[in-house]
Amino acid sequence: MSGFYNDSIRLIAGTAHPDLARSISEHMDVPLCDASIGRFPDGEIDIKINEDIRGSDCFVLQPLCPPVNENWIELLLLLDCLRRASAGRTTAVMPYYGYARKDRKDEGRVPISAKVVANTLIQGGADRVLTIDMHAAQIQGFYDIPVDHLYAKPVLLNAIRKMKVENPVIVTPDVGGIKMARSYAKALGADLAIVDKRRISGSEIKLEHVIGEVDGRNVILVDDMISTGGSISEAATILKKRGAKKIVIAVSHAVLCGSAVERLDACPADIVLITDTIPSRGVAPKRLEIVSVAPLLGTAIQNLHASKSLSVLFDTFDEDDA
Ligand code: R5P
Repeated sequence: MSGFYNDSIRLIAGTAHPDLARSISEHMDVPLCDASIGRFPDGEIDIKINEDIRGSDCFVLQPLCPPVNENWIELLLLLDCLRRASAGRTTAVMPYYGYARKDRKDEGRVPISAKVVANTLIQGGADRVLTIDMHAAQIQGFYDIPVDHLYAKPVLLNAIRKMKVENPVIVTPDVGGIKMARSYAKALGADLAIVDKRRISGSEIKLEHVIGEVDGRNVILVDDMISTGGSISEAATILKKRGAKKIVIAVSHAVLCGSAVERLDACPADIVLITDTIPSRGVAPKRLEIVSVAPLLGTAIQNLHASKSLSVLFDTFDEDDA
C-alpha cells in the first residue's frame, strides 16, 4: 500500500458470499467493484479487477466459510491483485474467520492454523482486518496490523428483544463461552447458566452438568458458532430435561456442516436465530430466523474510511440510525 488513500471507497466481493456483499453495497450505497473471478480449466483461480483502483480505500469482502481453502486462496489472490494495482489501503473483511479454532498448540505436532491465516494475509498485502466474533479474540495478537473485531451481539439482541422472551436465562453450551453469555445476560438483565461440555473428538461431545437454574425458565442459548451442531443440540436437549420451557438458540456463525441441520431439527429448540455471516448451503434447519450483519459491516466500513470509532458498534446497533 502507499500509506495514503483517496476519498474513494471500493468494495471488492470475493465469491464466498455474493448475497452479503450485495447487501453491504446496498446499505452503503456504494457499488461493488467490477471484478472477474473465475477458474482456469485446471481449477486454479483467475482474477481481474476491471476498474482503476489506484489510491483507493479498498475493502475485500470474503468470509472464510466452506469451502474454506478455496475462499482463503481467493482472498489472498485478491489482496495480491489490489497491491499490484496500487490500492491506497486494503482491508480484508472476513465476516467469519475460518481456522480460528486452531489458535494454539494443544498437543504435539499440530499446526497453529489461525496464525498461518494471519501470516498469509499480512504477506498477501492486507493493511487491516475487519471481522466478527472470532472464535478466540486473542487471534488479534497474531497480527501486527490493526484488527477490528466486531460482535454480532447487538444485531442478535435486536431480534431477541423483539421475541419478548419472559424471564429468560442466558445459557452457554460450554465454559469457554461464559464471557459472551455474560455480556448477553448483562444486556438483557437476565440470569446466567452454564452447560459443562467435554469434547471427545471434532464431532463428538459429552455434556455433564448444568450450572445455574433453568427449571421452569425460558432459555436463550448463545454461542459463537454452530459447526456440526453437536454442542448446541446436546445442550438444548439436556436443558429441556432439566425443565427449561422455551429454548431460543442464538448464534453468530452458522457453519452448519455434517449432520448439523438434522441435529438442529431433532433438538427441542423453539427458534434457531443466526446471522448471515455465512451463506446458507442447501437445506436449512426448520424454525430458523436469520438477521443480517450487512448494516453493521457497512457502517463499520464507513467508519473505518472516515477514521471514526468502531467501538460505538460493540454494544448496541440501531439499523435505522446507521
Ligand atoms: C466451541 O468452543 C464453540 O463455541 C462451539 O460451541 C463449537 O465450535 C460448535 O461446534 P459443533 O457445532 O461442531 O459442536
